[in-house]
Order: sequence, then structure tokens, then C-alpha cells
Amino acid sequence: MTIYLCGFMGCGKSTIGEKLAQKLNCNFIDMDDYIEQQAGMTIPEIFEKFGEPYFRDLETQAVRDLAQRSGVISCGGGAMLRDVNAEIARKNGFIVLLDVPFRTCWYRIADSDRPIVKKNTRQQLEELYHERYVIYQKHATHIADASHSPTAAVSEILNVLGLESKEN
Ligand code: S3P
Repeated sequence: MTIYLCGFMGCGKSTIGEKLAQKLNCNFIDMDDYIEQQAGMTIPEIFEKFGEPYFRDLETQAVRDLAQRSGVISCGGGAMLRDVNAEIARKNGFIVLLDVPFRTCWYRIADSDRPIVKKNTRQQLEELYHERYVIYQKHATHIADASHSPTAAVSEILNVLGLESKEN
């Protein structure tokens, strides 16, 4: 079984994913790391040299490749936006949307070197957050409140997936 964590940049997919995998004693894969390893370049370099559409194709390829694996996969913030990617993920497991308000994401990503952050203003990113939220919701099989600590988010995910009760 595979759990795909999706949500906006800065919602905590990687931190929470790693903790969740530890808790479940299963593999953890960070999709962005996988793409960087495959491309032999960082994500900012891929965007700069080849542009966003090329990156999105690498992302689809990564979703296909990783469908052979089980465990927890933290997706890039755009990875579950293409229908084809989400369909592959759904066939392979659960897609959990990490629900975090924009202002929390913004606080974490504002100074980062993420290409999407660098080329947009705060207001544009907030609009993007709301546009994407609808698509994340459409594709997610489950939604977990991840607005508190990573530990609380892990419990919340286990709870929504029916893998652990809230009291545990
Ligand atoms: C992106 C999010 C990034 C990374 C790339 C594009 C996006 O991942 O995949 O910079 O379009 O939201 P994180 O969500 O892990 O920052």
C-alpha cells in the first residue's frame, strides 16, 4: 500500500511523510528528491534550463516509476494536479491532502528558492493556493488537518485512514 501526501508548498509533506513512514515502519520517498536524482540536477536548475512544462513531464514520469513502490510518498506541490498522475496514484494507494492554511505555507516558503515562489508575489501565490486547493480536494481520497505539529499531523493521517484511533 502507498500513501501519497499532497498539498501546497510548505504544508509539511516531506517532514510529515518521513515521520509517518517511521511510524508505519515502511519506505519513505520524496518525489522531488527522486526527480532531482533522475535528472542529475536540482529542481531550480530544471526549471531554469528546461522550463516548467518539462519539469511537469518529469513529474509524471516519477509518478509512473514510483507506482511500483510501496510506502509513503511525499509529492511535489504540483504532482497531483494532472489528472493522469492522480489516477495512477489512486490505483496504487491513498492520496492524502495535508490541509494547512495559506499563511502557514507562506511563512515557510517565502524565503525559499522554489521556482514557483520566486516568480510569483505573495498575492499571486495565495490565489494559486486557492485554485489548487479545489484540484487537490478533487483528487484526494482523504483530507488530514496538518496545521498543528508534525506529530499531530501523523496521528490525524492515521486516524483519517482508519489505521489508528484518535485516542492512541
Ligand atoms: C512545486 C512544488 C515543489 C517542487 C517544484 C514545484 C509546485 O515541491 O515540486 O518546485 O508546483 O507546487 P514542494 O511542494 O515539496 O515544495
